Amino acid sequence: MTAAAGSRPAGRDGWAQPDHRPAAEAGAPGGADRGTPGTAPSFHEMWRDLAPIGRNPESGGYRRFAWTGADTDCREWFKAQAETRGLTYETDRNGNQWAWLGDPAAGDAVVTGSHLDSVPDGGAFDGPLGVVSSFAALDELRARGARPGRPLAIVNFGDEEGARFGLACVGSRLTAGQLTLDKAHALRDADGVSLAQAMERAGHDPEAIGADPGRLARIGAFVELHVEQGRALADTPHAVGVASAIWPHGRWRFDFHGEANHAGTTRIEDRRDPMLTYANTVLAARKKARLAGALATFGKVSVEPNGVNAIASLVRGWLDSRAADEETLAAVVAEIEQAAVERGTRDGVGVHVTRESFTPVVEFAHDLRDELATLLGGVPVLPTGAGHDAGILSGVIPTAMMFVRNPTGVSHSPAETAAEDDCLAGVTALADVLEGLACR
Ligand code: GLV
Ligand code: MN
Ligand code: MN
Repeated sequence: MTAAAGSRPAGRDGWAQPDHRPAAEAGAPGGADRGTPGTAPSFHEMWRDLAPIGRNPESGGYRRFAWTGADTDCREWFKAQAETRGLTYETDRNGNQWAWLGDPAAGDAVVTGSHLDSVPDGGAFDGPLGVVSSFAALDELRARGARPGRPLAIVNFGDEEGARFGLACVGSRLTAGQLTLDKAHALRDADGVSLAQAMERAGHDPEAIGADPGRLARIGAFVELHVEQGRALADTPHAVGVASAIWPHGRWRFDFHGEANHAGTTRIEDRRDPMLTYANTVLAARKKARLAGALATFGKVSVEPNGVNAIASLVRGWLDSRAADEETLAAVVAEIEQAAVERGTRDGVGVHVTRESFTPVVEFAHDLRDELATLLGGVPVLPTGAGHDAGILSGVIPTAMMFVRNPTGVSHSPAETAAEDDCLAGVTALADVLEGLACR
């Protein structure tokens, strides 16, 4: 995305009074030009200021992991965006950030937003596009002179990707009561740092975390805009689509227990090599998923002792599997586990499988989905295999998603992209949706 978009003036039309200090002065990271006093930073300016945070110069990808320095910088950026627009800023008990236009206590709020964290070496768009577009859409509503009859809010959900603690959507799961305190407090990162310790170090009270039904009860609708993570829109004339459903998905940890030994002196027939069992399991996963029309990915692995000249004692592989329905998903994972155990028996390797997370199929609220598609003039309605905070919340409040066209379909990679014109079309579409929902 390259060309600059024009900034949209913040009007004095009865909306909350914006902070007219330049954003740099108001605490925005980077201190770059954020627009003249009295104007909110444009989509392009917001994108530019967010872009350097957590970017790995070698890969060009992002490492914005929950409760790290990069995450804190993203959070400061969010807070500055809220403040520069005169929105009421708050962090909830689970560390999710909110920027309110109107009185949150009034109820029946229309909320939009997404997340700012990333997978390891992730792209710039997965999450941030939704947050930046939300601020820009509010600016567009203001420029239109829209008068919302319901409170509006923008949210940045914490730890959506689960890159650090292994569980996706921690912020929204906690809020929705879908993650028990015991499980949350048992989460550890690769260095053994607990979620609670990480939160505390980042200045958030971990004792405060837990379900937040009162907050959710004040929300009438949540709409998440997201970059498309496939090519369903790429060959259509539509820059924007609406989500119908999210495939059920989960993460399973496969522990392959073998025996460490010397790579140069241990005869082949004497080895108990877990790498062999792991490798066969990866191949089996691919085959079982292909035959069932499902997806199965081993994208993360750890090896002990991890020496070039030592047979491994333990290989841990994390399986991410998804399918159109829960029965197919369960069958595929069971077949992969069976293949692992059978191969392990031949290799003298013990196999232990732990389900670390599971998200059932999500069918977005039909009324809201249809309303969005109508408001947007009959755009495509499509399912996705990717998980989202919107999917977690859909069990509790009416929820919908909008997708912005991704020309390559690539995601969770630095190659993830969207054309700037499409991003701006997404902003206008989101403004149309917010206006349609909140101003009628
Ligand atoms: C999140 O992006 C997921 O689908 O894993
Ligand atoms: Mn993602
Ligand atoms: Mn995302």
